[in-house]
Amino acid sequence: MSVGIDEISFYTSNYYLDLRTLAEVQQTDPDKYYEGIGQEKMGMAAPDEDVVTMAANAATPLIERVGADAISTLMFATETGIDQSKAAGVYVHRLLGLHSNCRVVEMKQACYSATAAIQMACALVARNPEKKVLVIASDVARYDLDTPGEATQGCGAVAMLISAQPRLLEIDPEVGNYTEDVMDFWRPNYRATALVDGKYSTKIYLKSLKKAWEHFREVSSLAFDDFGHFCYHLPFSRMAQKAHQHLAKLNKAGLTMEQVEAQIEDTLHYNRIIGNSYTASMYIGLTSLLENCKQNIAGEKIGFFSYGSGCVAEFFSGTVVAGYEKFLHREQHKQMLDARKEVSYEEYLSLYRYPDPRDGESIEIEEGTSGRFRLAGISHHKREYVAS
Ligand code: CAA
Repeated sequence: MSVGIDEISFYTSNYYLDLRTLAEVQQTDPDKYYEGIGQEKMGMAAPDEDVVTMAANAATPLIERVGADAISTLMFATETGIDQSKAAGVYVHRLLGLHSNCRVVEMKQACYSATAAIQMACALVARNPEKKVLVIASDVARYDLDTPGEATQGCGAVAMLISAQPRLLEIDPEVGNYTEDVMDFWRPNYRATALVDGKYSTKIYLKSLKKAWEHFREVSSLAFDDFGHFCYHLPFSRMAQKAHQHLAKLNKAGLTMEQVEAQIEDTLHYNRIIGNSYTASMYIGLTSLLENCKQNIAGEKIGFFSYGSGCVAEFFSGTVVAGYEKFLHREQHKQMLDARKEVSYEEYLSLYRYPDPRDGESIEIEEGTSGRFRLAGISHHKREYVAS
């Protein structure tokens, strides 16, 4: 029996900052961003948006099709947690009207946890093939102003329905893992922004790729040449390009630089204009591939490299299902991205600095999102979500 991704939909904020604007203020060459890190725009969450509202927006089209009662488990992956105890997915459970018999849990391990959620969801479905599990990855990537990480911010959520006989991607059971206790990127409880050792993080990313791939090769019969495309975790597009060149070199693949780049190019379109969305980024990359690849890739093997700082990494594989192109949300995604509003540097700063009370003060939050769900206020330490 095959198990995997039956449907996929993503959401990002209606605001973005063009990295040319950031470069101008910083008196940096915009090509450092457009070419050097491969990023053009970064999504900025509206004041009344957070991982919960983005997640509910991402999942709405899936729930509208299968019905709220079809979901047996909701797994919520994030590293932008809003509570140390309550899972963000419990708010989403209410906003989407899921059944009270549906279990909810939140998963964390930096940008990797959505992959853990998917593997666990596949195991649950393999045990009970009539069940459907909703996996949502949702994050707001935030670094301190005037740091090298600033240009790699972004926000987004992706919702995936995991089922038996999936219509998009069959996921293979063999995986290669790599875990090491390192401090390349982390966010202590008392901080709203991440701390990062930028250059070191890129080195650990590449090392983890090599190690996870080696483990994958031990457990899977698939070799580099068996894959048509590869999806990488996308902190910024250039990172995936470097990683894929690294993997091709390790495997002595007889491909030109252009052929190697072509194996990941279509996974990068959305990330370039959304920015880093941490747990969601690789799966928004998969959506980008399925929705933008000009050839029909049914039957192709896709390789996935999921990386979460700290660090845990995983290489796994899947096969694109025949007829997949009929079950995408390409038009809705295009409309959402086309309708976004560019912000000035001053507007960016005001979105960046919008109050997120940490000491119990109550606030009403101005309307800013064009999404269906919003965070209307915080009162008595309780977040108040509403649907419009
Ligand atoms: N034209 C074209 N290219 C230019 C340029 C110009 N005018 N100016 C610079 N560049 C190039 C540089 O040569 C460099 O390319 P190479 O890497 O190929 O040498 C690239 O642009 C970036 O320039 P710098 O190395 O000078 O950039 P930086 O040091 O200011 O910042 C960074 C780079 C450290 C990665 C920073 O973006 C950062 O800290 N990002 C956040 C951390 C991160 O994303 N790490 C990735 C791995 S960790 C992970 O994946 C988890 C996660 O999601 C965070």
